[in-house]
Amino acid sequence: MKKSKVALYIAIAGLSSLFIIGAVYAQDDIKSLKHDIFVERERPAALFPHALHTDKAEIDCLKCHHIYKDGENVWDESEESDCTACHSLKADDKKLPAMRAFHANCKECHAKEDKGPLTCGECHPRKK
Ligand code: HEC
Ligand code: HEC
Ligand code: HEC
Ligand code: HEC
Repeated sequence: MKKSKVALYIAIAGLSSLFIIGAVYAQDDIKSLKHDIFVERERPAALFPHALHTDKAEIDCLKCHHIYKDGENVWDESEESDCTACHSLKADDKKLPAMRAFHANCKECHAKEDKGPLTCGECHPRKK
């Protein structure tokens, strides 16, 4: 009887610390995607909650990250994750220019899934 009570308290303590970590994590997660290549910005940098996409919405890394070899996406965590490393300000070769690469990636999925923002101001909120 006593033993199981102790176990219960440990379980509750464990759970509540998970909630605390969860809250801090969620706050840290809202990240602004500011890139140096956009020298004269027209909009405030877009917000992108990364963990919301990977953990809550459980979207596969390869839906957004890619490195193509022989037409196949061979990206893994050790590879380049900065989109602007390959997508420059202007289109080059087969690659979309950076703004269109971001917009195509983000908006196409939000439209298709009918989830996530689609208007300029939701992704590029003015600072409060
Ligand atoms: C919905 C799209 C999307 C998904 C899904 C996604 N990522 Fe990302 N990830 C991004 C974007 C956008 C950036 C920022 C890139 C930039 O700044 O150019 C990024 C940045 C990163 C970075 C750089 C470090 C950082 O946080 O700034 C790492 C590492 C990374 N992602 C790993 C992953 C892994 C591992 C997965 C799968 C578990 C994953 N990503 C899934 C879009 C995504
Ligand atoms: C290692 C270089 C590289 C990185 C890093 C990279 N891309 Fe690309 N991306 C390419 C190339 C090359 C293509 C053209 C593929 C083709 O059509 O053969 C492409 C194509 C695209 C396309 C067109 C549709 C598709 O998937 O083929 C979108 C959208 C896109 N990239 C968005 C992104 C985003 C968003 C990121 C960052 C999360 C990113 N890219 C990071 C090289 C890269
Ligand atoms: C493959 C699909 C997919 C891609 C790609 C994607 N998103 Fe999303 N996004 C979602 C889904 C699904 C949700 C809703 C998640 C939820 O609340 O469960 C979402 C929600 C959001 C939200 C709302 C967060 C909130 O607090 O409600 C923002 C902001 C967002 N996405 C930004 C972006 C940006 C910026 C990009 C491109 C860098 C992007 N997304 C790419 C699927 C995607
Ligand atoms: C789903 C999210 C999303 C929506 C909706 C969206 N954008 Fe973006 N936009 C991005 C991301 C991500 C980037 C690349 C990161 C950054 O620089 O903000 C970007 C970059 C840009 C840039 C290049 C940087 C700059 O400020 O010069 C412009 C311009 C821009 N967006 C304008 C718009 C306009 C206008 C709309 C509405 C018609 C819009 N965006 C809607 C996510 C979005």
